[in-house]
Amino acid sequence: MKPMLMLREFMAQKPLEIIIESIDEAIHIVDQDGVTMYYNSIAAKLDGLSQEEVIGKHLLTNFPSLTSESSTLLQVLSTKKAIFKRPQNYYNHYGQLIETINTTIPLLYKGELLGAIEIAKDIKHIKQLSEKLLELENLHRTMTSPRQKQNSNKNTLYQWHDIITEDPVMIEQIEIAQKAARTTYPIMVYGETGTGKELMVQAIHSESNRQAGPFVVQNCASLPGSLLESLLFGTKKGSFTGAVDRKGLFELADKGSLFLDEIQSMPLDFQAKILRTIEDGYIRRVGGTESYQIDVRVIVAMNKHPLECLEQGVLREDLYYRLSFFLLELPPLKKRQADIARLIRHFCTLNAKTEVQLEDSVQQFFEKYTWPGNIRELKHVIEYAITLCSDRIIMPQHLPLHLQKKYEQLLSSNTRFAKRIGLKEQLEEDERHYIKEALERTKGNVKKAAELLDIPRQTLQYKIKKFKVKGKRDGE
Ligand SMILES: Nc1ncnc2c1ncn2[C@@H]1O[C@H](COP(=O)(O)OP(=O)(O)OP(=O)(O)O)[C@@H](O)[C@H]1O
Ligand SMILES: [Mg+2]
Repeated sequence: MKPMLMLREFMAQKPLEIIIESIDEAIHIVDQDGVTMYYNSIAAKLDGLSQEEVIGKHLLTNFPSLTSESSTLLQVLSTKKAIFKRPQNYYNHYGQLIETINTTIPLLYKGELLGAIEIAKDIKHIKQLSEKLLELENLHRTMTSPRQKQNSNKNTLYQWHDIITEDPVMIEQIEIAQKAARTTYPIMVYGETGTGKELMVQAIHSESNRQAGPFVVQNCASLPGSLLESLLFGTKKGSFTGAVDRKGLFELADKGSLFLDEIQSMPLDFQAKILRTIEDGYIRRVGGTESYQIDVRVIVAMNKHPLECLEQGVLREDLYYRLSFFLLELPPLKKRQADIARLIRHFCTLNAKTEVQLEDSVQQFFEKYTWPGNIRELKHVIEYAITLCSDRIIMPQHLPLHLQKKYEQLLSSNTRFAKRIGLKEQLEEDERHYIKEALERTKGNVKKAAELLDIPRQTLQYKIKKFKVKGKRDGE
């Protein structure tokens, strides 16, 4: 028989069994009475039982710690409705806690219930890893957070005067933020990446009457929803494998401010929990029964417009209305023309500690460029250019490579730069122009032209030759 035909014959007989025995999930099939019909080796290993002792017996005989309510298989048999990705905790025969995520589906054939199948994933190791991750996250927080002012020796947060701006819209937003800082209402800050949201939020905290309290920051996009819950609300010992008694960020931020960045990345059901917490002023640790009262001012930020997030269904409407009591919108740098020049000066002084100039074409390029990374990008570009330039003038070749490309593209549309005249060439062209003018005025007398230009006669003679300017020679 040809291999192809043999494979077909084999597939018709054994494929399901091979798949079921080789995947990483535990599979358990029961009939309509709850008696186990199939139980793969992964399930047996997870439960610490053998396939033989389980098959043919009722589920509750095999797992006495389960009940008809807590067993997802028995529930599905009674409701005939599938359950997707539900966590289940139970003890196996050795008294070990088993934590799984189960998907359980009724087996219906021609409208009749034949049984149910359960696919369970062991999440014990994931939970243990999560716990380690939380520990590291907290360790990192105590070592580094929050970000502090550059060039500051003390643990200082940014204040109003650190926000450098001359832009009327920004000034207006700062004025609203100053008023908001004096209240206890939630604040929502929107701005593209690098527009200064964190700077603004730090200033709000450090100038509010909570300034002596903690300022706690959490980026909601950096952790999955399940971990965020433990991180924000804390954990109670034994609530899951390896869990210890730990305060969450709400408790750590008590009497201070909790800054939740990129709130739209939080799962929607969890956003509802945040809303309840803000409204009630109480939290309960994961796995705990006690409630703790907290006094926290919540400030959130988003780098996508809140209305766009509402439209896309990633931000709950009720949370948006509660949090946007004060809505601050920070314009992108390309819309803050006055700020480009102002911030360039600011970052030059901050980094070089001495006056640094930009070559004209660089200055013009900076004013035309769209700055997708906003102020953060401008800041890094200046830092980079200052490191490269040696004589305190930032030239195109001192820009990062990707910007040099943009520089050429952008300025080729501009006539002055279409010729790509560098500073040196520009100066030479100016020199040539003045020499020509001086020679015309003195009717080609080099000696008199040199006096007019206030340079030695020999120098002028050399330059006339170099620039090929027509003029009478001495004595002519
Ligand atoms: N107006 C400003 N004056 C001086 N420095 C500023 C200003 N705005 C932003 N910066 C600086 O730019 C960098 C980025 O700012 P910040 O982290 O506050 O931006 P962000 O909006 O929170 O960005 P992201 O969305 O990426 O988190 C920081 O180093 C900050 O100090
Ligand atoms: Mg930020």
